[in-house]
Amino acid sequence: MNVLLLGSGGREHAIAWRISQSPRLAKLWIAPGNAGTAALGENVSDVAPTDPEAVRALAERVRADLVVVSSDDPLAAGVVDAVTAAGIPAFGSTRAAAEIEWSKAFANDLMARAGIPTSSGRVFEDADEATEYVRQVDGPVVVKADGLALGKGVTVCDDATQAVAAIDAAMRDGAFGASGSRVVIEERMYGRETGGHAFSDGVTVRHMPFSCDHKRIFDGDRGPNTGGMGVYSPPAWLTPHHAEAIRTSISERAIQAMAEMGRPFAGVLYPGVMVTESGPRVFEINARFGDPEAQVLLPKLRTDLLEILDACAHQRLADVPVEWDDRATVGVVLASEGYPGPVQTGRLIEGIGDVDDDVQVFIAGAKRVDGRLLTSGGRVLCVVAQGETMEDAQAQAYDNVARIRFEGAQYRRDIGDTYARPLDFTR
Ligand SMILES: Nc1ncnc2c1ncn2[C@@H]1O[C@H](COP(=O)(O)OP(=O)(O)O)[C@@H](O)[C@H]1O
Ligand SMILES: [Mg+2]
Repeated sequence: MNVLLLGSGGREHAIAWRISQSPRLAKLWIAPGNAGTAALGENVSDVAPTDPEAVRALAERVRADLVVVSSDDPLAAGVVDAVTAAGIPAFGSTRAAAEIEWSKAFANDLMARAGIPTSSGRVFEDADEATEYVRQVDGPVVVKADGLALGKGVTVCDDATQAVAAIDAAMRDGAFGASGSRVVIEERMYGRETGGHAFSDGVTVRHMPFSCDHKRIFDGDRGPNTGGMGVYSPPAWLTPHHAEAIRTSISERAIQAMAEMGRPFAGVLYPGVMVTESGPRVFEINARFGDPEAQVLLPKLRTDLLEILDACAHQRLADVPVEWDDRATVGVVLASEGYPGPVQTGRLIEGIGDVDDDVQVFIAGAKRVDGRLLTSGGRVLCVVAQGETMEDAQAQAYDNVARIRFEGAQYRRDIGDTYARPLDFTR
């Protein structure tokens, strides 16, 4: 098969790595790709992954048998719709199905109708009404820009004063552009977060192992939010009872509700879940793999990824059993100096060749210039190791992180430390 993959993150490097191992692959193209995917296929740099017509034309030119769409903006732009309309199979959801991610108001409405446990939320299109509402509630709420906002549109508030400031930023100052013209105001939940990824072809659901991201920049969950500084999987703190509740009452119910609405969801469904005192409750549903969750989950996959993606694109996932390695896995992100603010780039990365054979290094913000690998973005790379125990996986991950060097590199030292910690519902 000829495969065209869209995107340029560490997630796409991990997807390209697994696709490139498939016996069914003839040739892999990645648009635009990065320094990691360049070693696995052919990068095409002059096509914007969010331009449906340009992607369709590229897919036709390279005679793609499958187009893989793994990031939010191309899904929301309708790339899958354009490609499949031209008769080319695609992995990923339609624009209509991806609304579960690109509109938080749509997701809340769907969850309410399907009986999916979530926090109570209200949608506002008028800043004065939103302000009056948070003053009335007068307690901890979360203010969310409705649309996609590069992971920056959500403010978790302790009180009404913070909530009013967040409403002003989104609705009066236009901090998130059109994405903030509507806001969702939710009850703030307390507990611990996990992600429940699943493949679906619209009907059949194949669950992946659970994983936990570390969003804050500093150890102990301090400092500003980032795109994700590291992931471990599986969480020992998640009880089998709660895990089953997430699979059935959240993921499977969402897939069924989307099908009943006439918007079947095919692709990766990734609900973000807070395990609260009253059980698991959703705070968002994504329509694609998390980044860096993909980098940690895909090394655990025992089944041919291309077989799964192709089956999802052809509504025959029921025929494909999906198997996972249940060992502990840890991924540690190395980021540039200054991240998540403005960063210094162009710094030489050394030592990637010194990592263990069974450790993966997935490239995100790095580029090759005259044979040398230089930093080019906020999150630079992710080092992933597996072990019989979480401690083994952590030890090997950090041992290998220490072999990779670039000036100003920052990473968290505590990825995986909470994997067996009892839940605490006060924060
Ligand atoms: N209702 C909620 N209660 C408590 N925390 C929340 C709630 N909703 C979101 N959060 C926190 O805010 C983060 C970002 O929210 P999310 O809905 O995932 O937005 P996005 O990923 O689109 O920026 C979550 O990872 C979670 O930590
Ligand atoms: Mg999120």
